[in-house]
Amino acid sequence: MLIEDQVLRNNWVVACKATDLKEEPKQVIILGERVVLFRNEEGTHAFKDLCIHRGAALSLGCVKDGQLVCPYHGWEYNSDGKCTNIPQLPEGRAIPLKAQAITYLCKKEYGFIWVNLNNNNPRMIDYSPFYDENYRNVLWGKIEVNANPPRVIENFLDVGHLAFVHEGFLGVSEKPVIGDYNVHEEEFRIYSDEIAIFQPDPDGSGVAKDVYYTYEILSPLSVLFTKRDPDTDNRMTIILIVQPVAEGKSIAHGILSFNYDTGTTDQEIIEFQDMIFAQDKPIVENQKPEDLPLDLQVELSLKSDRMSIAFRQYLKRLGVTLGTA
Ligand code: FES
Ligand code: CO
Repeated sequence: MLIEDQVLRNNWVVACKATDLKEEPKQVIILGERVVLFRNEEGTHAFKDLCIHRGAALSLGCVKDGQLVCPYHGWEYNSDGKCTNIPQLPEGRAIPLKAQAITYLCKKEYGFIWVNLNNNNPRMIDYSPFYDENYRNVLWGKIEVNANPPRVIENFLDVGHLAFVHEGFLGVSEKPVIGDYNVHEEEFRIYSDEIAIFQPDPDGSGVAKDVYYTYEILSPLSVLFTKRDPDTDNRMTIILIVQPVAEGKSIAHGILSFNYDTGTTDQEIIEFQDMIFAQDKPIVENQKPEDLPLDLQVELSLKSDRMSIAFRQYLKRLGVTLGTA
């Protein structure tokens, strides 16, 4: 996963739901790296989860008076990662300048905490329904998946599987054909035309009909689709945001956004999405090779896989930009 690792380290990577970070520091694993998140009056912070003194995990410590305190010998670190107290030092002895935690850029956005491991402060994705008052937003996840992120992402962009994996829910097996569609590229988004998908009961009225899906890539780890009902113009957007944990391990997070009254509770919406995702999970966890082939000659694509192809081309370009592909 070498190419992708560097691409992802240059991005904002989701670390956890903001409400999952409480008073205690929290360990998250991103790209195989242990990261500690903690909160104080100055905001939310991310450090490498490693004390410079004897390598203890800072996440086992606590936050006291705004300082992150190591559990082993009580060294204290401020928001900038600078060590501000070493209890073992005799009176008047200066704290060594090297006593400093490794810090990562960290921000709160869209109800999640994000970390940028390479500290290059990239552009944050633009997910407009979250701040649109016409939309109801429901946070979904986290779901652990034993697969690398690109396979998880590509499954979400895959139109052809709806009538099979989600038969009876998101498609019907008698109508598997996907019409031709194009993919368009702008500076910060890659998106498809509307694609007609025949669904058994898209609006809960019991009537089967075509609805329209538009897929969109926002970043290597964030993709979305919008489902539009042609009769009512009701729209539902789901953004999938994948946390790359380690080789073969991902965590899926998401936001479901509705511009209409679904007549269901948040919990019901989450449970439905859990059920749909549970149908995808065994497929994605057993795909070979584990890494998405970026060479388009490997695996056989159809025209209807145009969105997946665009994703592979996009990942390849990002790798090339870094000079690692
Ligand atoms: Fe952290 Fe000693 S290992 S204070
Ligand atoms: Co699916």
